[in-house]
Amino acid sequence: MELLLKGGVLHDPAAGWNGPAEILIKQGKVEAVSTSLESIEAPVLDLTGKVILPGPIDMHVHLREPGGEGKETIATGAAAAVAGGFTAVACMPNTFPAVDSREIVSYVRKRAAETALAHVYPIGALTRGLKGREISLMWELAQEGVKGFSNDGIPLMDSGVMLRAMQYALLLDMPVISHAEDSCLSAGGVVHAGEHGYRLGLPTIPSSSEAVMVARDLLLQEEVGGKLHLAHLSCRQSVELVKWALEREIVLTAEVTPHHLFLTEQALEGFNTSAKVNPPLRSAADREALVKALGDGVIQVVATDHAPHMRLEKEEGLMDAPFGAVGLETALPLLWTLLVDKGLLTPLQLVEAISSFPARILNVPGGTLQKGSPADLVVIDPYREHTVEPREFYSKGKNTPFGGWTLKGLPVITMVGGDIKMWKGMVKGFSDEFPREEKTFFLEGIS
Ligand code: DOR
Ligand code: ZN
Repeated sequence: MELLLKGGVLHDPAAGWNGPAEILIKQGKVEAVSTSLESIEAPVLDLTGKVILPGPIDMHVHLREPGGEGKETIATGAAAAVAGGFTAVACMPNTFPAVDSREIVSYVRKRAAETALAHVYPIGALTRGLKGREISLMWELAQEGVKGFSNDGIPLMDSGVMLRAMQYALLLDMPVISHAEDSCLSAGGVVHAGEHGYRLGLPTIPSSSEAVMVARDLLLQEEVGGKLHLAHLSCRQSVELVKWALEREIVLTAEVTPHHLFLTEQALEGFNTSAKVNPPLRSAADREALVKALGDGVIQVVATDHAPHMRLEKEEGLMDAPFGAVGLETALPLLWTLLVDKGLLTPLQLVEAISSFPARILNVPGGTLQKGSPADLVVIDPYREHTVEPREFYSKGKNTPFGGWTLKGLPVITMVGGDIKMWKGMVKGFSDEFPREEKTFFLEGIS
């Protein structure tokens, strides 16, 4: 499909673009970007009043396939991604079996090619079976196409194994994505070790369980070098440690989730299991430190840690319900409403955090809409308000702590490789009302 996007405002830090733009798309790629493409003959999509962002890449999601298809599949997770405005996701290896062999990587990639509307980049297991005892067959996994390595979901206690994994990842020039948790400090815990957690009378997870492992990983990184990425930071101690490391010019990147940016331990009020996540939601001071760190560039990436679970599992009560919240279908409106609209983050900074940095860290195409780039983009409506209704999610997981929140910045078009995958909330192949013919897009228009 050839088309011309007119009337929208483009924020693309990599291209140095921050204003009105006309974008010509041809054969799945960006052919031209200019303030005016008058002489071009192509079907026009009028995006007046809308905002265009280079395709957001959620570098931390759980798609559950293979082995957890009751919670999510690659198909439903990717549908949720495009519904939420993401054009790509990187999926974590804590599946059943774990992504620790050539066969499973190739299975995930095959399922993605067959069923996914978004790009799906598998992350390989850092250790065999995610058991933390020996490094995985990292070279083989890299050959098969993983974009990074992680023990996400399961603490990696053995520092020697972590060191060897980092050395090996350095040789492969691939990122190690660290789930920083000391299981001796967090074991059996359910809620943050703070005022609120104590009042609930539940076993706690102290900030130190994260911070001591952040410190360890930073010290190892200083020795080894390579690409270290710290996943889902949750507390101010971790932020302080990252600041210290950046001052020492230790090379690293760090990530925060929307739920840690916008919620505190108070969200567990009423024993709300959808707010049970790992690492846990912490205090107001922690939340404020994370928001500030993102604004200051101490934290570079926002990723959702999209963790779908079944309703029955989440009804088990706070002690027994699994950790995790879905995030793909609320992240962009949350970030737009609560950071950009409030002036805490510029649109360019937002794009850095959700598009440019993830593309660079994972070494994948995208993150910008410069000429020649894949036509992966999202169009959002910066003004229209929408109330989060979990029943409407394309994800199988409805476990969100943001149900009922009224937000702006709703994604209205998601385009992957020049192809419209989401149109005004309808997802191709998943929604009966999705336009059958291309010309409908141009005739109907967006507003
Ligand atoms: O809340 C979480 N859920 N944190 C993790 O680290 C793992 C994830 C999951 O797989 O459900
Ligand atoms: Zn995770």
